[in-house]
Amino acid sequence: MDGRDLVRSVKAVGSTGAAQSLRTVAAAWRRRRTDAAALPPRGAERARVPGVVREVEPGPGGGVIRFTRSELRIVVAVNGVVFWGWDGAGPEPSYALAGRCPEPDPRALLEPDKDGGWRVVAERMTVAVSRHGAVEVRTPGGVVLRRDLPPRWWEPVGGGAARWMQRSEVASDARFFGLGGRASGPRLRDGTYRLWNTDPGRAFGPGDDPLYVTMPVQLVVADAATHLVFHDSSWDGTVTLREGEEGAGSGHDRAGSSELRMDGGPLRCWAMVGTPARVLLAWASLTGAPALPPAWALGYHHARWGFGSEREVRRIVSGYQERELPLDAVHLDIDHYDEHQVFTVNREHFPELPVLAQELRRSGIRLVSIVDPGVRAVPGNAVYDSGTAEDAFVRDALGRPVRGVVWPGESVFPDFTHARVREWWGRLYEERLAQGFAGFWHDMNEPTSFTAFGESTLPRSARHSLEGRGGDHREAHNVYALCMAKAGYDGLRELASRERPFVFSRSGWAGMQRYGGTWSGDVATGWPGLRASLSLVMGLGLCGVPYSGPDVGGFDGSPSPELYLRWFQLGAYLPLFRTHASLRAGRREPWEFGAEVLEHARVALVERRRLLPYFVTLAHLARRTGAPYVRPLWWGAPEDRALRDCEDAFLLGDCLLVAPVLDPGADRRAVQLPRGRWYDTVTEQAYEGPGQVLVDAPLSRIPVLARAGAVVPVRGDDGGLELEVWAPAQGRTGGGLVVADAGDGWDEPELERYVTRWEGRRLVVEREGESGAGEPPYPVRVRGLGER
Ligand code: GLC
Repeated sequence: MDGRDLVRSVKAVGSTGAAQSLRTVAAAWRRRRTDAAALPPRGAERARVPGVVREVEPGPGGGVIRFTRSELRIVVAVNGVVFWGWDGAGPEPSYALAGRCPEPDPRALLEPDKDGGWRVVAERMTVAVSRHGAVEVRTPGGVVLRRDLPPRWWEPVGGGAARWMQRSEVASDARFFGLGGRASGPRLRDGTYRLWNTDPGRAFGPGDDPLYVTMPVQLVVADAATHLVFHDSSWDGTVTLREGEEGAGSGHDRAGSSELRMDGGPLRCWAMVGTPARVLLAWASLTGAPALPPAWALGYHHARWGFGSEREVRRIVSGYQERELPLDAVHLDIDHYDEHQVFTVNREHFPELPVLAQELRRSGIRLVSIVDPGVRAVPGNAVYDSGTAEDAFVRDALGRPVRGVVWPGESVFPDFTHARVREWWGRLYEERLAQGFAGFWHDMNEPTSFTAFGESTLPRSARHSLEGRGGDHREAHNVYALCMAKAGYDGLRELASRERPFVFSRSGWAGMQRYGGTWSGDVATGWPGLRASLSLVMGLGLCGVPYSGPDVGGFDGSPSPELYLRWFQLGAYLPLFRTHASLRAGRREPWEFGAEVLEHARVALVERRRLLPYFVTLAHLARRTGAPYVRPLWWGAPEDRALRDCEDAFLLGDCLLVAPVLDPGADRRAVQLPRGRWYDTVTEQAYEGPGQVLVDAPLSRIPVLARAGAVVPVRGDDGGLELEVWAPAQGRTGGGLVVADAGDGWDEPELERYVTRWEGRRLVVEREGESGAGEPPYPVRVRGLGER
């Protein structure tokens, strides 16, 4: 450790003081020692490739192809997705799958391909395997979307986990997306991305990688089709991407490439092909439907590390109320806990939380609680004592509980990869519910343990149950937060079965959407941070996690009034709309930035509330179809190259296009439009796509455009549902889907379909039903009529 490390460690623990810094130094040494004893150096390794095909064994949905030094199992599943696994790997066990592996499709058969290879034909793709073990994913028309070269393993001669590498080629025009939440996306440019959930230890910007949520999920968009591949291994790894290049004139194309290197775990892959919407539907059917947030969670949230007391919470809430600013949730950070800091309350400063919660509830405001996994390791801390009695905490290779350092000091960590431990943890939320909390914010669950040098997490040799299979932190690390989310979500379902749980989590992995969403973590205050926060939301959506949003205003420091406002205006159109900041940062209430910002922020808040029915609809659609609320502009036209490269605007569902201002001083901005007519929702000016247009973006608003023909459910002045219909161009039709809010329970509301069309000079809006079309049951307001 050098001086810089020490400075870093002191910064990491901040105001918690010198004793904490010393603890992080001790923790770093301890971590190093533990691993040195339990994980001997790898020593000599032997490299291996599959060799040549020797025989095949047909089986349900495909079969097994045997090579001289490995074997490959291929299974086409009934939902059209294809699985393949090397060295005998099957699809289970898996933390990503929502349930059991989907059934094999009996129609899919292994057939001979050319040059001694084999192939399996599925509905939307053909998988062809060469005699040396290259695996090609082709469209039904035969276009190659992805070519995996024969994999390579490195096996320690003395035994232990094999490292492996999978190199793949994609089309020269392909673009990469996904890999979890990346600050420099959403288009993933050339570079190496690590697969290891990480708290960067300070507020992050676009150059920081990896962050809290990493996933071996790649969405690849190319002219021929979109495909998603998921390498189901939770081990540490890297993905090196290189976009291809199309040869100009008679020049040659250069393929794009992806090189995945993993430190261990099975080499197995799921692939799905189609339009972006189809691919995300298949992904959700495999890894689970996104949890439906309660309607209030689609409103506006205000958080703060350091409210410090009930009095201060009341003062801030009154600040919103006196100014008539809509507010739906207040989040309490670790400062409302006592010194143990989880499932405990600081009674001196928060003496009557249930009363506060009730009072806020009467004004339509919910309380949300932070929940960290680290349990302060002192006898007398009830959570520590009960966890010890349950044998709940992660142990090292010698059987001693692993100690780390988090906010409360020396802590131990529940092993969420054990069903019994998850159940124990899930029951602890009873205390939170009794305090009146309605939602839960999981934090520090990469898991983070501050260390003065080296990685800020548990030792790699720490032991985990992994559902009874047994293993260590190298395999459990990336699924730790996913399993904590399951513990919280399942516990809440038991404890408060009538309400849908609201859980969002800083860290996670493939499948985390089953339990809730995430937020962007500690994003750095600054214009680059604003851009990074949009990249995370879009990238996560393409990995199947539709509900997320940033700390509006950034986590650290003090944004300029302009930056704060632009962030606020963007946040108003993201699924999780939350202001939050660090203990040491400047304030984030909308009135702290002057009268002008307050007025413009009010407009954004009121508009968010007006759009609530649309957000509720998008949440239901995400759950039913896997489609994220926030979609890249190319969602409906992935073949449009200009849209594919556009990262500074997004579609909010099918109806709206949001073009946030991401640069200082702008009062106009260029917007790349998909095909069709688009109306500026404020001026009603019409623009024709495809193509680029310049639109006004005064400080008072960011450009939001509505698709001609769209039917947008909104909240009317009386609080009831209304349909805002944007006139289709003459001779054209339009329509939209609406799911009316059915409360915060489990009732399944109907999907309502509306159509719009011209009858002469009259615009007709009808609801489509089983018995034909009928009058909409809501008031209809038509806009954009000036532009026929
Ligand atoms: C972490 C979280 C942040 C929270 C803080 C204190 O930095 O990312 O949101 O405010 O811890 O709990």
